[in-house]
Order: sequence, then C-alpha cells, then structure tokens
Amino acid sequence: MKVLVTGGCGFIGSNVVDAYVDEGYDVAVVDNLSMGKKENINPKAQLYVCDICKEEVEEVFIKERPDIVNHHAAQISVPFSVQDPLFDAEINIKGIIRLLMLAIKYKVKKFIFSSTGGAIYGEADIVPTKEDYVPEPASPYAISKLSSEKYIKFFFNQYGLDYTILRYSNVYGPRQIPHGEAGVVAIFTEKLINGIHPTLNHFPDAPQGMIRDYCYVKDVAHANIIATKNKKTGIFNIGTGKGTTTIVLYKEIVRILREKGVFIPQAFDEPIRAMARPGDIKVSTLNVEKAEKELAWIATYDIRKGLSETIDWYLKK
Ligand SMILES: NC(=O)c1ccc[n+]([C@@H]2O[C@H](COP(=O)([O-])OP(=O)(O)OC[C@H]3O[C@@H](n4cnc5c(N)ncnc54)[C@H](O)[C@@H]3O)[C@@H](O)[C@H]2O)c1
Repeated sequence: MKVLVTGGCGFIGSNVVDAYVDEGYDVAVVDNLSMGKKENINPKAQLYVCDICKEEVEEVFIKERPDIVNHHAAQISVPFSVQDPLFDAEINIKGIIRLLMLAIKYKVKKFIFSSTGGAIYGEADIVPTKEDYVPEPASPYAISKLSSEKYIKFFFNQYGLDYTILRYSNVYGPRQIPHGEAGVVAIFTEKLINGIHPTLNHFPDAPQGMIRDYCYVKDVAHANIIATKNKKTGIFNIGTGKGTTTIVLYKEIVRILREKGVFIPQAFDEPIRAMARPGDIKVSTLNVEKAEKELAWIATYDIRKGLSETIDWYLKK
C-alpha cells in the first residue's frame, strides 16, 4: 500500500514516515523543506521537494498514485499565525484544499489529517476536553485547522473521501524544532544544553505556567498507523489526558539533564519569567476515551520516559 506523507521531513511527519516504513508501507514524501530537514527523511521513503500550494504537487500524485494521503505539512506557529494570518491561511487552508481536490482526482482511498486538540478548543470550560466540545479557536492557526476539518468533511459528504482527523495535544520528541506549535520541550532542552537560561511564559495569575497535555511523538506516529489500518471515519483526540504545568516540565528537564551528566548552573533552577504570548491559552488537556474505545489506541509513554528519550536524542545531536 502506498502512502503519501506531506511534511514528511518535519518533526512529526518524519516520525510517522519511520512508523510506516517499519510497518512495510511504501512511502512517498512531499516537503518544501521550509522547516523540515532532508536528514530527517527515512532512506526507504521517496522524497519530492515541492510545495503543497503549487500546481507541481500534482506530478507527485501522477507518479505515485497513493492509496492514502497523510497530511502533516503546515505553517505550525501560533504566534506567527497571529502576525500573518494570510500566510497561515495560504498554506493551512488553500494547501489542504489543493490536496483534497487531487485526492479525489487520483482516487485516494483515505485522507488522514493532523489537526490540533491543543489549540482548536480554545480556553475550554471542560478539561480534559472531548471531541464534541464546540471549538472556540483563539488564533488564526487554530481557525485554519478547524476550517481544514470542515473542508475534509465536505469532501467526504460530496465525494465519499474517507478520512480520519487526529487532533493532537502537545507533541514532543526527537527532531522537534523550537519554534513550532508546541516547541517548549525543544526550547528548554536546547537552551539548557547550550548554557542559556530559558524563559517561562505565563499569565499573571498563573506563575506555574500553562497546563498542557504532552504526548510523545512515537505514540502519535502509532496513532497514524492505526488510523491507516482502521476503516473508521471521524475525529479523534490524541493525547495522554493528563495535564503538566510548564514549571513541572521545566524542572523535570533540568533534573533529567543533570542525571545524564549535563552541567546546569544552580541559577537555572528557576527559569526567567515572561508574560504569555498572543494566542496562548491557559489550560489544554484532551479526553482520549474515544481513541481508546474506537481505535484501541492509548499513549504508552509517560512524561518521564518520553523526556528521557528526547533528551538522549538532543545530547547525541
Ligand atoms: N507539534 C505539535 O505539537 C502539533 C500539535 C498539533 C498538531 N500538529 C500538526 O502536526 C503537523 C506537523 O507538525 P510538526 O510539529 O511536525 O511541524 P514541522 O514544521 O516540523 O513539520 C511541518 C513540515 O511541513 C513542511 N511544509 C511546510 N509548508 C509546506 C508547504 N507549503 N509545502 C510542503 N511542505 C511544507 C515543513 O518543511 C515541515 O517539514 C502540522 O500539521 C501541525 O499543525 C502539531
């Protein structure tokens, strides 16, 4: 079975590509390398350096005739989407419409989409939040992800294109770059290794920082494999259901780095403090019962194990 992964040179996409290759799938990747790196690509996957927003991407469909499209390419920065909503929409809305149209034209069997449980619900009244909570996106990035979901449903209703939408919580792990949707693990780890004092952003009434549901990238990659094999159409939260404050996360990273022999000065025991950024939300955790029941998927990594593997990767890098 042939899978086309867009954004397959990026953080999550490249881990998803590895999981597909391990499962014996034939994998093609489209990435314009705006953020992704060639070195992330699995040698068994066929890379096409091209832009999902340009006509040239059709050549890949003609050549590869994928059975499945797994769409991970995106503009992923919430603050950047606030600065330039038009650029965000060009990639995150117009890009997916082009892919959906090509999926119909070239008879793709299923479309898998990486949406955001971390941003789409906004500042939800109910946490952990379920899939049927009415989304209140608080940033252009989250608005573009919600629009994408609506386009996917339109293509399902109109043309019968099967889909699975995975709403990820805050994903972390090897190959993450510091300026993405949920780059805090990458930011803290890289700064601490390089002897730079990290900054913790917080709201004035919550000095402990934001509360987030941190999910390890290998668990997320496995959810994509299940979504590919499973006939179910629908939206699924992918996370751990558990909340961690930024300060707890920070202290855990410091602790693990010291345990692994990295010198962290005592002055770094506490991070520098700064105010929350535009588009930030205070609390975001996901109810993942639907994925557990209907996809038989569950996060297997707790935060300690996931951070330890992630830090090993940064130290090797
Ligand atoms: N990181 C998270 O915690 C998180 C949470 C929820 C959802 N997501 C979604 O998961 C997906 C992957 O995120 P990531 O963190 O791996 O980001 P990433 O930036 O590492 O990966 C995105 C990839 O898409 C590529 N790309 C961007 N624009 C492109 C274009 N126009 N044409 C072709 N390729 C293009 C980039 O070069 C990059 O390799 C995104 O859709 C993101 O919105 C991420």
